[in-house]
Amino acid sequence: MGNIIHSDIERVLITSEQLEDRAKQIGRQITEDYKGEEVTVIGILKGSFMFLSDVMKNIDLYTRLDFVTVQSYGNGTSSGELTLTKDITADIKGKHVILVEDILDSGKTLKFVKDLFEKREPASIKICTLLNKKVRKSEIIKADYIGFDVDDVFVVGYGLDYAQLYRNLPYIGELKIEAR
Ligand code: IMP
Ligand code: MG
Repeated sequence: MGNIIHSDIERVLITSEQLEDRAKQIGRQITEDYKGEEVTVIGILKGSFMFLSDVMKNIDLYTRLDFVTVQSYGNGTSSGELTLTKDITADIKGKHVILVEDILDSGKTLKFVKDLFEKREPASIKICTLLNKKVRKSEIIKADYIGFDVDDVFVVGYGLDYAQLYRNLPYIGELKIEAR
């Protein structure tokens, strides 16, 4: 490990090898599950970008890519009003949509996006999340594809940020208290 951003990490929870392997498995699973179909992968920016890219490399289907940005106003990660600040560009009517998110915590973000897109009459919508928090897991939404279950600690890296930093770490780590 280097000594700039890496030194802010308390411990590595998921290594880059584990992340790469899991993304490969999920990509292959999606390939099997949608055999003979086209899929539209929609990433929720920004946290999903690295995972999405690794999963997509392993999908052997005709695949479209789009992104949305959801902003939460108010304090904390899961409270406050949610707004779609960037919409997808394509029509998803009749398409098989796979929403990709970085972490499923309260589930509010994914529920918001799923409800919104369901109104546009896609053929189906599934949810793929890199991380799933075990503790605060609510029942308002369930993921179809889960990378890893994690404990209720604040994690960064592989797309996930703290104050917009650490997204470029190639692994998932727990941030030191002093760095927050
Ligand atoms: P929720 O599922 O709507 O509560 O929100 C999940 C969002 O909160 C994710 O998209 C992340 O942006 C953020 N988030 C929640 N937990 C963490 C964490 O441990 N690290 C980084 N971001 C987190
Ligand atoms: Mg996010």
